[in-house]
Amino acid sequence: MLLLVICLFSARAEATEQEELVARGDYLVNSMVACGNCHTPRGDDHEPISDMHLAGAFQVDRAEFTAYSPNLTPDHETGIGAWSDEEIIRAIREGVRPDGTVIGPPMPIRVYRDMSDTDVRSIVAYLRTVPPVKNKMPKSKYNIPLPESYGPPVESVPDVSREVTVAYGAYVANALGHCMECHTPLVKGSPDLARLGAGGNVFVKPHGMELVAMAANISPHLEQGIGAWTDEEIKKAITEATSRDGRQLQPAMPFYWYQQIADEDLEALIAYLRSIPPQSVE
Ligand code: HEC
Ligand code: HEC
Repeated sequence: MLLLVICLFSARAEATEQEELVARGDYLVNSMVACGNCHTPRGDDHEPISDMHLAGAFQVDRAEFTAYSPNLTPDHETGIGAWSDEEIIRAIREGVRPDGTVIGPPMPIRVYRDMSDTDVRSIVAYLRTVPPVKNKMPKSKYNIPLPESYGPPVESVPDVSREVTVAYGAYVANALGHCMECHTPLVKGSPDLARLGAGGNVFVKPHGMELVAMAANISPHLEQGIGAWTDEEIKKAITEATSRDGRQLQPAMPFYWYQQIADEDLEALIAYLRSIPPQSVE
């Protein structure tokens, strides 16, 4: 009898742990991580198509590459349903598929390497729960050499304590949200970390829209960056796509998902943005 109670109790504890993982993964994927900004196709209105959630999308067509973001739903044939958890984790953090091939840009593998074990496991647990969609995506074509690897195997990454601290904000802005990947000038395809947050990257026809957007300076420079902005103004830019002067902000920033970022996570993010060196462009 006692044994039965213990067994039931531990089965229940496992179920709860799994539920917590899925809930965390759901929150991450549908807020600051925004995998769907690349992996969910958009309709004629340029909004993500809800019943094609994470089912794969045309990414970008440039001289360097024509990239397609693959289907991440659990469909066995056209998605990643047949991959093991470890295989999906390796794809996200190391950029290597089960067949050993390397995943190319713009998937931000460099920053995903720092995703904690708990968070990457949560994301995988959540991906298992999304409805499978049959959607075969074409292969990307790269006219540039892909890196042989993004670094040594990622063994284990500890959690960063979820608090309103610069450390957690740094984790949100890099490993989770890849804000700094878009907002830092690229040199030979890699962000120039000496100019962290200085902006300048240009997005041509983001999400198929007839426009060109340039990533803003989000360092705390008083005139050129966001140093003079209030916390509320910064939050409004991130979650409502409205700049300080009232201008509507353009993609490719993942505004559709950023509406869901929790307030404490925004506060940590802002503490981090205020802590980086101010950047100016002459
Ligand atoms: C900035 C765009 C972008 C973001 C954000 C992004 N990806 Fe990707 N992802 C891509 C592209 C493009 C490829 C395909 C690259 C290639 O063809 O080599 C890819 C490939 C993959 C693959 C390999 C799948 C296969 O069948 O080969 C997996 C798994 C994956 N992404 C998962 C994720 C997850 C999970 C997230 C969120 C944590 C994410 N990606 C965020 C663009 C992105
Ligand atoms: C896919 C690339 C991309 C990602 C990811 C991204 N941004 Fe942006 N962001 C942009 C672009 C492009 C603009 C400029 C839009 C415009 O001018 O219409 C912008 C604008 C902004 C602005 C408004 C600045 C101003 O002067 O109005 C802020 C603040 C900002 N981003 C912060 C962030 C933060 C914080 C994150 C991460 C949570 C983030 N961004 C992630 C591309 C990106």
